[in-house]
Amino acid sequence: MKQVATLNCSRLIFMVVICFAIPKCYGEVQGQYGEIAGAWDITYQGGGNEQLLTISKDIQYVNLVILNVDLTSGEDFHFEVHAGDPKLALIEKRIERSELAGAPASWQGQVPVQTRHFGFTTIYVTLNSSDGVVERSPSDLTLIIARKDRLDEKIFTYTASALLLLMFLNLGGVLDLERLKAIMLRPIAVTIGFCTSYILMPLLAIAIGYCFLSKHQELHLALFFTALSPSGGLANICAIFLKGNVNLSIATTTINSLMSLAIFPLWILILMRTIFTNTELDVPFLDLAGSATALVCAIALGMLSRVFLPKTTSLIFRFLKPFCACLSLCLIAMTVGINAFAFKELTGMIFLAALFLPISGYILSYGISKLLRCSAADALTISIETSVLNMTVPIMLLQHCFDEVRADMTLIVPIMAALISLAMMIVIYTIRRIFGWNKNIDGDVFASKVELVSFDENIKAEVTVSHISFRNEKSEL
Ligand SMILES: *[C@@H]1O[C@H](CO)[C@@H](O)[C@H](O)[C@H]1NC(C)=O
Repeated sequence: MKQVATLNCSRLIFMVVICFAIPKCYGEVQGQYGEIAGAWDITYQGGGNEQLLTISKDIQYVNLVILNVDLTSGEDFHFEVHAGDPKLALIEKRIERSELAGAPASWQGQVPVQTRHFGFTTIYVTLNSSDGVVERSPSDLTLIIARKDRLDEKIFTYTASALLLLMFLNLGGVLDLERLKAIMLRPIAVTIGFCTSYILMPLLAIAIGYCFLSKHQELHLALFFTALSPSGGLANICAIFLKGNVNLSIATTTINSLMSLAIFPLWILILMRTIFTNTELDVPFLDLAGSATALVCAIALGMLSRVFLPKTTSLIFRFLKPFCACLSLCLIAMTVGINAFAFKELTGMIFLAALFLPISGYILSYGISKLLRCSAADALTISIETSVLNMTVPIMLLQHCFDEVRADMTLIVPIMAALISLAMMIVIYTIRRIFGWNKNIDGDVFASKVELVSFDENIKAEVTVSHISFRNEKSEL
């Protein structure tokens, strides 16, 4: 019975859809292409089927050619030029039959375009006959509309790179070889953190992308880049706030950041062969290798200065750490500010994808670490390291891999996901504060805190300083 009912229901829906669709398709008299004016076609003057414009209040022009028009039938008609997506560009141009010349006739001239939004769209031409028959040009021409000001992007890239280097220098300075050795001797937690960051998160991004962004490969790829990017210094700060295991956090960040340089090309190669086969990608492997070397050098420099100039280093890093923390917040603000245009690209699907990635990453990595018998604080730290998402690295990657318009269209994914992951941390922090859970109840962490103090007074100072500076910032907010 039930089955029959569903069958009838789906049939009904089908009929309704058909009823609505038919008048839409046949509302205008669809001419057989070629009947009125032969096999006419359009092209840009000078060949090529792409034209780049920038967003502007002024009218811009593209040079269009309508060619191979057969005027022998004697029927009256005119041509109209249209833009594929009126949200991106407006075109109003009418070409009368009398403006055509030659045999076979052609028209050549400028078509005014009012650009409105960046992105990709098309130009096509219709032939309207006086009896209301409409023919559409057999081919569409591509119109690329880019944003105008690119200067702040350059500034952004340089500042972000400089900051990243500074953070790694700082990490190198904080990294204690003894502590690193201690963690490496029991590498379970670090290994879990590595696997959740570089296996779980990318797989999640692929799965979530399939659910929400399957129609847009670029967005899917942007989500993937976001999941793959190492969390960076922000995760350490979150670990301090949420009373996680700070040592583990720093160790995981360092190892993940270093490993990312090997993992990134590996994943991208795998994906380009499997999922994103028809995405045009220009992965900057050379640039990636260059940044890898720079980061390793920065870490090494930090560690060396710590060994050879301990006094000076501790003094510098004491100020560098809160400075870095502030800078990383400034960097987020700057990224959001400069790329504010990207929020126009936000859709419900993108929001959902950006929401589910950090949340499911957090829950799953917490569950996995708990299953593998990590302490509560370690599990918390691992899930923070996994789910706090970085926006700078994926943005730089997108700008490298895509042409500027495609990059602009996808930037919203890392920005949204990173903001949501940050909001999630704030929510977790608030909940823990309200219920009084934000305490060091973990024996292990306590031990590592003691270790922290005995190993190095200066780290404790740094941690406290950054803690205080964040308190201040919070109260200002
Ligand atoms: C010509 O045809 C196009 C496409 O169907 C239509 O949008 C446009 O309104 C028509 N122009 C006139 C003047 O009827």
